[in-house]
Amino acid sequence: MSEVVAGDPDERPRPVLSTVDVVSGYTDAEICTGASVDLGEGELVVVIGPNGAGKSTLLKAIFGLIDAWEGTIELNQQDITALSPRDRVLAGMAYVPQTENVFPRLTVRENLEMGAYINPDRFEERRDHVEEIFPALEGKRGAKASSLSGGQRQMLAFGRALMTDPDVLLLDEPSAGLQPSLVDQVLGHVDRVRQAGTSVMLVEQNARQALQIADWAYVLDEGAERYEGPGPKILDDPEIGRLYLGG
Ligand SMILES: Nc1ncnc2c1ncn2[C@@H]1O[C@H](COP(=O)(O)OP(=O)(O)OP(=O)(O)O)[C@@H](O)[C@H]1O
Ligand SMILES: [Mg+2]
Repeated sequence: MSEVVAGDPDERPRPVLSTVDVVSGYTDAEICTGASVDLGEGELVVVIGPNGAGKSTLLKAIFGLIDAWEGTIELNQQDITALSPRDRVLAGMAYVPQTENVFPRLTVRENLEMGAYINPDRFEERRDHVEEIFPALEGKRGAKASSLSGGQRQMLAFGRALMTDPDVLLLDEPSAGLQPSLVDQVLGHVDRVRQAGTSVMLVEQNARQALQIADWAYVLDEGAERYEGPGPKILDDPEIGRLYLGG
């Protein structure tokens, strides 16, 4: 259960993704202790919280890389708790892990082809859509992913995930390890994905910057949501600032 800092959860758009009391973890380590988060249609939802709070674990459970031991996960009002990651992709979900999210030895074009594996017939249509969102990729079609800058590489990772035409994109700390000037650039890429119509759930260490652009945000601590509200309101909350944002 969480405290709503501001805003009215009932006025949010209809959820495309919901977790209800999800319990999950690794072997005998329970990490998610009953996490309930929603992603509304067209929203950018940011999940922040201390190191080890279970943010990445929650995303892995949402995508089906680990099982939910208890609780349910719904995508477009359909219970997908028992589906494999592949079937979740077919149902409209895409996931970009924190690391190793592009194939460095393949070209930009080949990376996008890999992204379209589930529906190769629509490759060109999807690629055009991705290049509309990220025009910088068009001139780089033949370039090896390893030759791209940090910011461009994340653009490609997002683009690759968008090749399946997902309703929901899950992003785990895309700005991690990037120099400060690139953080805003990568968050700008996230914003473009949302503006192009994909709902985005973003886990982010650079909490202050991410909260500024979040339609709604959750503070996750010890595996469950503690606070929620519009991103800028979470950012302005003195108690959350003191507890979670370094004062
Ligand atoms: N594969 C794994 N096997 C066992 N324990 C794991 C595994 N991955 C993570 N953990 C543990 O689960 C807990 C939560 O980790 P998780 O990666 O979900 O946190 P996080 O909120 O994403 O943290 P960070 O901000 O550092 O990315 C940590 O105690 C971590 O050590
Ligand atoms: Mg993490």
